[in-house]
Amino acid sequence: MDHEKVIVIDFGGQYNQLVARRVRECNVYCEIYSYKTDIAQIKAMNPKGIILTGGPNSCYEADSPTCSKELFELGVPVLGLCYGAQLMMHVLGGKVEKAPVREYGKTEVMVDTSSPLFTGVSENTICWMSHFDYISKAAPGFNIVAHTADCPVAAAENQEKGLFAIQFHPEVLHTQEGTKMLHNFVRGICGCEGTWRMDSFVENTVKEIREKVGNGKVLLALSGGVDSSVAAGLLSRAIGKQLTCVFVDHGLLRKNEGDEVEEVFGPNGQFDLNFIRVNAQDRYYGKLAGVTEPEHKRKIIGEEFIRVFEEEAKKIGAVDFLAQGTIYPDVVESGLGGESAVIKSHHNVGGLPEDLQFELVEPLRQLFKDEVRACGLELGLPYEMVYRQPFPGPGLGVRCLGAITRDRLEAVRESDAILREEFQLAGLDKKVWQYFTVVPDFKSVGVRDNARSFEWPVIIRAVNTIDAMTATIEQVEWPVLMKITDRILKEVKHVNRVCYDMSPKPNATIEWE
Ligand code: XMP
Repeated sequence: MDHEKVIVIDFGGQYNQLVARRVRECNVYCEIYSYKTDIAQIKAMNPKGIILTGGPNSCYEADSPTCSKELFELGVPVLGLCYGAQLMMHVLGGKVEKAPVREYGKTEVMVDTSSPLFTGVSENTICWMSHFDYISKAAPGFNIVAHTADCPVAAAENQEKGLFAIQFHPEVLHTQEGTKMLHNFVRGICGCEGTWRMDSFVENTVKEIREKVGNGKVLLALSGGVDSSVAAGLLSRAIGKQLTCVFVDHGLLRKNEGDEVEEVFGPNGQFDLNFIRVNAQDRYYGKLAGVTEPEHKRKIIGEEFIRVFEEEAKKIGAVDFLAQGTIYPDVVESGLGGESAVIKSHHNVGGLPEDLQFELVEPLRQLFKDEVRACGLELGLPYEMVYRQPFPGPGLGVRCLGAITRDRLEAVRESDAILREEFQLAGLDKKVWQYFTVVPDFKSVGVRDNARSFEWPVIIRAVNTIDAMTATIEQVEWPVLMKITDRILKEVKHVNRVCYDMSPKPNATIEWE
């Protein structure tokens, strides 16, 4: 696609994806590349601006990530953030050294509002600092345009060359006017018009899909999750009945979820596509019977999915393309863009046999999650589907601990439905990142109707996180918890106890298996 583009050069900072997201919030398309990317390649991309991210190193050490001086001579505006700012100064002849005082956290910064970077910004503004090193001397040709009590060069600029360096992190929301600063850079200094919008993304992508697919047949494994649902909506708009969605109901979905997916994408739904629902519940329960080891359960669930999908693909025959809901963080985390460590290789359909010769179609490959959601709304998908909380691929299978049995799975499903209903009533569904129930495979003694009972507990989990790598516990109000407990004890069979999981990640994980 021929967008105006800003390039984010990644030096391994923890906020690199955030920088890219904030730029896109200014309606400017941007992509993340490793600092190792060849300068010729950067030039060939014809960027309107370049942003250098933060990073954990000291730029004056011999083996630290660096960049060539040429990067600053392309005639393209460059903004360095934190490590990126220090590196810009270091490469261009300034001085960076260990700071006498480490700045960390919200810090008052005094800025020169005549700098185009700080147009409309308050003279004293709160910014997020996180650095051990500091710029003790700006490079020749640079003016200092911001400082703090401990940091003589909090920002420097060479307006003539379009070079800007800031020590703090405008991408982090704790920097109160950071969005304005990034907007000033990409829209003002780089002169981007701001043409990256969801309606034009949909229009362009529809065109691209049509060009790529021609008269071919496309197969999509639809899970009902946000990404595959939005991909289905997009492909349906582009190629209608050339698309077949296979929805495997493995019996590990949340209450009513299978029917909801069918309502939206099935023959009575709003989309023009072929929809196949495979009711594979019994097949799954059979395979999973007596299996207690979590990874083994996961493996069975994943493999069986592929087997079912494969069988359907064979029935349809002559499929040319396989569509996937891969999104941009999957691409970056697979180590294909940026500098972040390979966190997970995305393998949405990993394990498909090689003799199924598909070409891949990944229409959401450029989008962040929030953009995928915006795209879903643009396509007319229901709000509840687009704003679904994350749900693990193996579904309720990893929340029905140990060997899965139908009655215990039912207890997970019913208690989860109650929890979701009550969270919605209390407005917590919009606030809490992920919430669900778990039913372990042990029983405890209780009393029901004046008689001894011996039944399962239900454990409630509600966590907040940004990236699921660490998580904190939501402090749910007591009355809400009491109401949920009451309902679970009344309405869910074979349960006599409700507990609230207080454990953050680490030491716990979000899921129990
Ligand atoms: P943990 O339990 O590792 O979970 O703290 C982190 C996030 O990942 C989700 N999760 C999964 N998602 N397949 C998935 O698609 C899985 O096997 C899986 N296991 C965990 C979990 O729900 C949480 O959001």
